[in-house]
Amino acid sequence: MPAFTATAPGKIILFGEHAVVYGEPALAVPISDVQARATIQAELSAPPGQMQIIAPDIGLKSSLHDLAEDHPLKRAVQEVLDHLDIPAPPACSLTINSTIPIASGMGSGAAVSTAIIRAFSGFLGHPLPAEQVSKLTFAVEKIHHGTPSGIDNTVIACEQPVFYQKGEPLQIVSITQPFTLVIAHTGISSPTGEVVGSVRQAWKREPDRYEDLFSAVGKIAREARIILERGTTVELGPLMDENQALLEEMGVSSPELEALIQGARAAGALGAKLSGGGWGGNMLALAQEEQARRIARALTRSGATRTIINRVESSG
Ligand code: MEV
Repeated sequence: MPAFTATAPGKIILFGEHAVVYGEPALAVPISDVQARATIQAELSAPPGQMQIIAPDIGLKSSLHDLAEDHPLKRAVQEVLDHLDIPAPPACSLTINSTIPIASGMGSGAAVSTAIIRAFSGFLGHPLPAEQVSKLTFAVEKIHHGTPSGIDNTVIACEQPVFYQKGEPLQIVSITQPFTLVIAHTGISSPTGEVVGSVRQAWKREPDRYEDLFSAVGKIAREARIILERGTTVELGPLMDENQALLEEMGVSSPELEALIQGARAAGALGAKLSGGGWGGNMLALAQEEQARRIARALTRSGATRTIINRVESSG
């Protein structure tokens, strides 16, 4: 069996995080400048059934057998074996690398699972279609996050801009006019599962208030989709600001995120908001292309530990 390598991109949510968990739509795009990569290599001298897992980014070198049953890397391998009805892996090694910042709202966990599922199923001679890769990744996500909406696995496995609504068929969004995003990291981990849990508690305490917030976010995501398809992308800026105000009311923003958001707006961004779970992780700003570098520099001055300029190309 030859070595098999597969990659998966990061993602960024443009509109609709948190509300998407409660059935509202959200918009997300893949970010291919950062990637997870999985390589499976046959180990002809090792006994059958022995799989070595090597993840230098997190200092992990272990046999599959020795990892806890709910370890996300083991779960991704096991999902493939179960789906293909294969009792044990052939003797091989799995090496995982990723340039996607961890716990940043960029889907690092889902991208690692997707890359593993693609590489391992390909190595076994049964490459899986994107929809199935997405389903298996979702099964692993449930272990990380408890109640994920499904948006991360969907956008990462299909590698296209998506308008995602739980339980609805996949909707790919046509981007009519390219636009530029500046993504900046607060340097603080975003504990997505915890933030989602805290919103759930708040929703249980004040269901009417939170449902109003969720439906206002859903309305923004629907408007943003029309704007993307119509090709007047500068109009996304004010919607980002409105979405951020609603996320602040939900209690998922943070002083560090808000310092970056204010910094981006002061430097000429057309709009800015947090992206992903919140309490840390990344924010994103919509920029005129010629302003993007200036905004990225201003974000670094406002405390960003990493910035990424990403042009979202027109599609479909
Ligand atoms: C995480 O990338 C986005 C959240 O909406 C959670 C989810 O959709 O599963 C916060």
